Amino acid sequence: MAENLFVPENADRTAKYEAILPQIEVLTKNENDIIANMANVAAALRQTFGFFWIGFYTDKGKDLVLSPFQGSLACTRIPYDKGVCGAAFTTKKTIIVPDTDKFTGHIACSSLSKSEIVVPIFKNGTVKAVLDIDSEFLEEFNETDQFYLEKLCGILSDNSLF
Ligand code: SME
Repeated sequence: MAENLFVPENADRTAKYEAILPQIEVLTKNENDIIANMANVAAALRQTFGFFWIGFYTDKGKDLVLSPFQGSLACTRIPYDKGVCGAAFTTKKTIIVPDTDKFTGHIACSSLSKSEIVVPIFKNGTVKAVLDIDSEFLEEFNETDQFYLEKLCGILSDNSLF
């Protein structure tokens, strides 16, 4: 197993995603446990980008439940009709929130979170979980993040058993 993550220094965000995605592919290809893979993916994103909060919420049949994450304590359960996570889950679409104060229904697990991206994770067309990343800065995320994080979630799903 690749236990060391190589992240190019002084590289832009695209180059960093390009560098870590193949490593995450190898890492998750050798392990099909979804919890283990979510944990390492959260750690890899934290190590690469230093985002404020990175984690997963998994569909447990009634609501979305906190799963492996990196960062401070977070809300444990999110109903399907609440928050950015609930919206990404029900619409089956990635949601970029440039300013969390302007997203109606945003759940503030931390008042430090200023912008956010939530990416649905599919298995056979069904959303099984979401990847949620929060930043302390406004407008942190854009289409580049969406493109690579959707790819990453595809890799995670393909290589894991839910
Ligand atoms: N802000 C999220 C809740 C999860 S925390 O950010 C970790 C939301 O509105 O769904």
